[in-house]
Formats: sequence, structure tokens, C-alpha cells
Amino acid sequence: MKVKTVNISEINENSVKKISIGDKDISIFNVEGEFYAIDDMCSHSEASLAEGEVFDCKIECPLHGAEFDLKTGEAVTLPATRPVATYDISIEDETIYLEMDENA
Ligand code: FES
Repeated sequence: MKVKTVNISEINENSVKKISIGDKDISIFNVEGEFYAIDDMCSHSEASLAEGEVFDCKIECPLHGAEFDLKTGEAVTLPATRPVATYDISIEDETIYLEMDENA
């Protein structure tokens, strides 16, 4: 299911926007003009990844410093060991759409 989110102009280059879809918080990152969407909640504990630092297309959790690959959601450093969900993005008429499960 394709879910309409925000206009690309709402997420400046090298910044992030946190949105809510149903009961899920999702962070959409703009990294040098490429958009990536991941679950906002760190897989290690309760921290918002939107508040972390981005470098090399990875997000560093603000709480304990685990890093996640923005493309795959994979946890690349401890203390996180589980990935975070990623969402396929499509852009139509400057609007970002996320591909979500029907029951998300
Ligand atoms: S809450 Fe993110 S690394 Fe611990």
C-alpha cells in the first residue's frame, strides 16, 4: 500500500523529518538529495533516530551510539543487534510516498 507523506521541499538536504503513520513513527532522511525512510524507534531501546547524527549514509542513535545503515536498516554497530524497518520510497509530483504493509 502506497502512503502519501510530505512534499520533498519539507525535508532539506542533509536533514530529517519524523512523521507518524498509524501508530508508527517513521523518519525520512534526505542525504545529499536521496531520500531514505526507516522506523524512527531504535531497535535497542527507546530513542528517536531522527535525533541522531547522519554520516556515510548511516544514522547514529543519540542514546547509546549504535549505527544503522539508512539503505538497509541493518544495525552495523553495537549495542543494537536487530535492524530497523526500512520503507521503499517513490516520489511523484514532488510528494514522497512510502510503501507500507496493509496492516501498518
Ligand atoms: S537506544 Fe539506540 S543504541 Fe541504545
